[in-house]
Amino acid sequence: MADGKTRKYSRIYAQLEGLLRQCPLPFARMATINAILYHKMDSFSWIGFYLLHRGQLIVGPYQGPLACQVLEKNKGVCWAGINEQRIVIVPDVRAFPGHIACDSRSRSEIVIPLRNSTGEITGVMDVDSRLNDNFDVVDGGSLEKICSLIYAHEFIKDSV
Ligand code: SME
Repeated sequence: MADGKTRKYSRIYAQLEGLLRQCPLPFARMATINAILYHKMDSFSWIGFYLLHRGQLIVGPYQGPLACQVLEKNKGVCWAGINEQRIVIVPDVRAFPGHIACDSRSRSEIVIPLRNSTGEITGVMDVDSRLNDNFDVVDGGSLEKICSLIYAHEFIKDSV
């Protein structure tokens, strides 16, 4: 049987599916995803997107304290998600070599690579928590499913 967190993510996914249908712009969808998750998931202290632009990872829409604008190349958790093309779960950021601390209060983190409709990696979703070991495979799978809505073609009515 699904646990409480799984059920919560399912409700959030259903709400987002309805909301994002009204909006064809990936950037606007990211902003809406951030707003819903930041306010519904109490343990999230920062949520946002870092987007690849000319070989750099640049901050996109986010909620939470001021974040780093550009991440040093091939360093930290977000670049690990891009380079390894996989979800990265960090239970203790102090034990992750090269972790970039935009907020010194962060203790754990999860990064989900974003893929557009042709399968190309365009950036990552990044979530921080001030709790140790806050993220697991349920977060990984649920956030990945939510991220798949960003470029979902069937939703896009106009060209963007
Ligand atoms: N910790 C990230 C940097 C982004 S902030 O957490 C918002 C990293 O190591 O890539």
